[in-house]
Amino acid sequence: MQRAAPQTFERVLSSMCTEPHPDAREAAERFLATNPGDPATYAEVNKLERRAVDGLARLAGLDRPASRGSDVGSTESPHGYVTSGGTEANIQAVRSARNRSDVTDPNVVAPESAHFSFTKAAEVLGVELRTVPTDGDHRADVDAVSAAVDDETILVVGVAGTTEYGRVDPIPELVDLAHDADAYCHVDAAWGGFLLPFTDHEWHFGHAPVDSMTIDPHKCGRAVIPAGGLLFRESAGMDALAVDTPYLESTSQASLTGTRSGAGVASAVAAMDALWPDGYRREYERADRLARWFADELRGRGFDVADVELPIVVVDLEDPTFRALRDDGWRLSRTGDGLARVVMMPHVTRGMLRAFLADLDAVR
Ligand SMILES: Cc1ncc(COP(=O)(O)O)c(C=O)c1O
Repeated sequence: MQRAAPQTFERVLSSMCTEPHPDAREAAERFLATNPGDPATYAEVNKLERRAVDGLARLAGLDRPASRGSDVGSTESPHGYVTSGGTEANIQAVRSARNRSDVTDPNVVAPESAHFSFTKAAEVLGVELRTVPTDGDHRADVDAVSAAVDDETILVVGVAGTTEYGRVDPIPELVDLAHDADAYCHVDAAWGGFLLPFTDHEWHFGHAPVDSMTIDPHKCGRAVIPAGGLLFRESAGMDALAVDTPYLESTSQASLTGTRSGAGVASAVAAMDALWPDGYRREYERADRLARWFADELRGRGFDVADVELPIVVVDLEDPTFRALRDDGWRLSRTGDGLARVVMMPHVTRGMLRAFLADLDAVR
């Protein structure tokens, strides 16, 4: 029988996954049969997980003083863990806020650009999700968020690198707003977290007293799947997630999944060791240049293209064109409002986009 083979990345334009770094692949294989869910038994991978969290914390400004507020940044060792992905991290951020809050009818306020994992979180945890319209440029509208927040709000969500348009919400304003209402503020940087350190955006723990953050090595961090990341500013964030674990060597567990992949943890460390900071900076600069060039090429052909912020290009393609390109094998997805989105992940090259443009010219 023929062995099954995965797809190549040759025509994958809309995914937020990519080729892992070779060191990440190698480390993943070495740690395949380890379970960070039971750190007392699997001590080596447990040590690696601390290194992974330290690495993520460094990217996310947890080791730096903040530019505003009095209790931002941190000098303690960082709090968090390597999740199965952004979905688990977002669910856990909501769960932690709920467990630390004392309201009867909790709600979470998020811009409509927030990832659908918050819908899952709300359903699973029995909290109300209030999604509010974004501004004209697809960023969280602070006034709309403010209008939706009330005494029962436990968490305000800001996105640093939205899934569809790559927008960065006004994080410091959202944090202020959340704290004024005695709520926590969570930043979802699942995709953007490995790009934003090379920009001027204010998005992390060092810029504002953010309470928790999702930041995924298995997206722009070039780790293998599954490797997401969840960080908390205070130990109480993680403590609120811990349950007793009678049959394990370890006595408590804060992750949502039980048995977890040591491969994800080891690969996250290997990728960050190999790429932080220069490798990630080079990749961000390459992706940014590519996105702006591609947007110009599309505009030159008369297409309507959204402004590029982080390297995602959103373009209005008519339905028959979109379908013809998919029939040509291009793996292309649409935003909620029907536009095509191309995400400049590390496997997306100028050569690939030239081939796409040639096909586009042929089918329109
Ligand atoms: C901003 C954001 N948050 C969360 C997620 C969910 O991550 P995952 O698919 O790893 O669960 C994604 C996925 O693309 C995302 O873009």
